[in-house]
Amino acid sequence: MTTTSPVRLGLIGSGWIGAFHAETIARRIPGAVLEVVADPVPGAAERVAAPLGVSKTALDAAEVFADPAVDGVVISSPAFTHTDLVVAAAEAGKAVFVEKPMALTLEDADRAILAAQRAGVPLQTGFNRRFSHDFASAHAIVAEGGIGTPQLLRSLTRDPGIPNPGAVKPWTIFLETLIHDFDTLNWFNGGAVPVEVFAVADALAYPDFKESGLLDTAMVTIRYSNGAIASAEANFSAAYGYDVRGEVFGSGGMVTAGDVRATSMRQYTASGEAAPTTRRNIDLFHQAYTDELVSFADVIRSGGPVVGATGTDARAALVIALACIESVTRNAPVALDGRGAVI
Ligand SMILES: NC(=O)c1ccc[n+]([C@@H]2O[C@H](COP(=O)([O-])OP(=O)(O)OC[C@H]3O[C@@H](n4cnc5c(N)ncnc54)[C@H](O)[C@@H]3O)[C@@H](O)[C@H]2O)c1
Repeated sequence: MTTTSPVRLGLIGSGWIGAFHAETIARRIPGAVLEVVADPVPGAAERVAAPLGVSKTALDAAEVFADPAVDGVVISSPAFTHTDLVVAAAEAGKAVFVEKPMALTLEDADRAILAAQRAGVPLQTGFNRRFSHDFASAHAIVAEGGIGTPQLLRSLTRDPGIPNPGAVKPWTIFLETLIHDFDTLNWFNGGAVPVEVFAVADALAYPDFKESGLLDTAMVTIRYSNGAIASAEANFSAAYGYDVRGEVFGSGGMVTAGDVRATSMRQYTASGEAAPTTRRNIDLFHQAYTDELVSFADVIRSGGPVVGATGTDARAALVIALACIESVTRNAPVALDGRGAVI
């Protein structure tokens, strides 16, 4: 493609985040076009495509992969479908952006990475925090040695609530929520690999659903190959709003990223001081969700390397999520070999 022609993207999966990505592509990415929307539920793709003026829809993602007008795909279907869709898209020569988690097993992660490598297509994964300005500048400072040698790292996700606790799949807290934090910690800790993981989890917010496998609260400690020790925590019932923060403490100082306050505006009354907070992740990370897809389109246009999280990064985050599952199952810390297998 020429550097001036629009980048044409196909959306696979038009549910909650897919609908938001569709709007981002159609309205907020300079030089990008939402070419087609695919979803197997009759009417679902049309519901998202029509208000954005997109006339091409499909029930089967294979139609998008076969479409010569499509340069790249944004996969936002459920996690269990991701690997097969990444492989099919790559084999069709399409650039791939896939939501997290890219895969649910290390074998599938390797399959997705290999398919993209063989096809020579970019594979970017949906770790949007890397594009949030505060997280990105914290990362840059750590990478430049601005806080010395990292010793303690921290990342947390507190979600304001889940609409249907009974529908949450087992281990979601590790595979779909904390996987963001694991990517952040790996990224902040620049190339070190986890050597030990200990996870403790419970259903404290929705105890009635514990029997059906829900875990809504978790604390994870990770020991890294460079000696740094990290913690990641998550909860699904933050009364005050979406709360995502990160921190690296090192021999020469500390960086922090994330702020539960939505703006710097404060209200002062007889009851005291108040700051507005954010209830939806797409508000908290609006800029990051936009910039990750701007970057994806730029990579397609330029032919350069992926700027955000790659397939290999997605595998590295999955390693920790799978180790957490093993740790909770054993109720003990688990050791990892260099490739991420639990010993
Ligand atoms: N990066 C983030 O912050 C973030 C936020 C939300 C969701 N996600 C991820 O995005 C993915 C989707 O989550 P969601 O909450 O939007 O789910 P959802 O259930 O709301 O939407 C999924 C959609 O995919 C469709 N679908 C199912 N199988 C498909 C297939 N084979 N091909 C195409 N479409 C298919 C479904 O019909 C549905 O419309 C999950 O992996 C989730 O973890 C990421």
